[in-house]
Amino acid sequence: MIITVPTKPYSDQKPGTSGLRKKVPHFQQENYAENFIQSIFDSLEDFKGKTLVIGGDGRFYNREVIQKAIKMAAANGFGRVLVGQGGILSTPAASNVIRKYKAFGGIILSASHNPGGPTEDFGIKYNIGNGGPAPEKITDAIYANSKTITSYKTVDAPDINLDQVGNFDLGEMHVDVIDPVADYAALMEQLFDFNAIRNMFSLGFRMVFDAMSAVTGPYAKEILENRLGAAEGTVRNFTPLPDFGGHHPDPNLVHAKELYDEMMGHDAPDFGAASDGDGDRNLIIGQGIFVTPSDSLAILAANASLAPGYSNGIAGIARSMPTSAAADRVAEKLKIGIYETPTGWKFFGNLLDAGKVTICGEESAGTGSSHVREKDGLWAVLLWLNVLAARGESVQEIVRQHWAAFGRNYYSRHDYEEVDADAANGLMDALRASLPTLPGTKIGALTVEKADDFAYHDPVDHSESRKQGVRVLFAGGSRVVFRLSGTGTSGATLRVYIERYEPDSSRHGIETQEALADLIAAAEELAQIRSRTGRDTPSVIT
Ligand code: G1P
Ligand code: ZN
Repeated sequence: MIITVPTKPYSDQKPGTSGLRKKVPHFQQENYAENFIQSIFDSLEDFKGKTLVIGGDGRFYNREVIQKAIKMAAANGFGRVLVGQGGILSTPAASNVIRKYKAFGGIILSASHNPGGPTEDFGIKYNIGNGGPAPEKITDAIYANSKTITSYKTVDAPDINLDQVGNFDLGEMHVDVIDPVADYAALMEQLFDFNAIRNMFSLGFRMVFDAMSAVTGPYAKEILENRLGAAEGTVRNFTPLPDFGGHHPDPNLVHAKELYDEMMGHDAPDFGAASDGDGDRNLIIGQGIFVTPSDSLAILAANASLAPGYSNGIAGIARSMPTSAAADRVAEKLKIGIYETPTGWKFFGNLLDAGKVTICGEESAGTGSSHVREKDGLWAVLLWLNVLAARGESVQEIVRQHWAAFGRNYYSRHDYEEVDADAANGLMDALRASLPTLPGTKIGALTVEKADDFAYHDPVDHSESRKQGVRVLFAGGSRVVFRLSGTGTSGATLRVYIERYEPDSSRHGIETQEALADLIAAAEELAQIRSRTGRDTPSVIT
């Protein structure tokens, strides 16, 4: 009953920062998803009889593509598919299932923090046997295959019932519909001191977790409320909806504004957190204080040994290049390695596999560790809770003490979304062309010390990744970074990352945009954002 279906290639199936992302109607074109999935299988070797994990964030079109992927996996010779009940697996949970059951790899259906629904975003990503996103060698092969594909293989069989945990046979292949939460919750229990956190909740610690109607709802309910005893109602918007309730499931200060306002208000809870569409991002807010992801990475790394899973210390830290250098100071103090990688979690995999680093993070609200090979939103929340329980101090106290000890890296990212792609490329080209002349240039009181287009040499497999973002470094340690997003689905998104280091603790209370004002002005002068994009202000400031 294996059938070979003739197809024609699409020219636009190049995976971006995190898999292939397009609008749903684009994915609904004839054989569009099938072509991409077959191109994934065609880029892999020796998987006959092996296990494939499949799951997604529950967004619109998730179930349809899961059924297609299961049948195609059977026709292509996989021996077993593990699929989350209801088609659900958060990105970190999928990574864990791949690792725990020694699967060959996994297909994750998600467009992360992008909106969902019939006209919104969808995505397909392939993860390898270590549980992490496929490296560029594989994503390049997938793209090459997608341009020459002539047919795909599937089986002629009814759909699998995804709504109940159970086992099915599909031709030669077994399908196990698994509980999407159980393995992940068990892993978290191993890493963190659940007794200490439970005790903190029983003493009246109050928390709010906004699951943003996305995939972390069932995970957060089970772990925070059922296992850790947080009050019922702690987890909000916990039912995953195909359109996320019409919102962007992006835990930042724009899309999680209600939570932010609550945390800044009178009688705020002790701790506020949120996660994104597929559960890999985190937002951390204390009573009266937003913790930037870059600071959160540094603070978690500095305090990780308070959690049982990291009690022997951490081997090293990796951060993406645009992420602030706050973590570098922690690594220096702990005398451990620090690695600066291009944007995207896939660059951390080799460092984690080689044991060079234990904790990784990105300024885009991604933090994680060697426990899986993806960033992990709930993991970051639980490590924070473990640190809070162990130290008995507030988020505010912990952050301020950290700044006093290490200095403060004022940090902000300005996004200009959906700008004209030609204008955005023109802006980047002009910046690149100006690089040789920038060193020594004065902009207001700032002097450019160094300027380059970031290139990464992977110390493990020695691969090179070029053109990963334009960096302008000023004397004194401040910097501005420019890059175009690799995850957007319409037009281009320009990201401008701005950072200033302030060692003097008497100057740690300045409002962030104010503290960065001269650098923001310098970014405009360097890149001519207004005239080139026609935008006066960023669409999102984080
Ligand atoms: C964005 C973030 C990046 C993250 C990725 C996937 O990519 O900037 O740090 O790894 O989403 O969540 P970008 O759109 O900037 O290419
Ligand atoms: Zn995500």
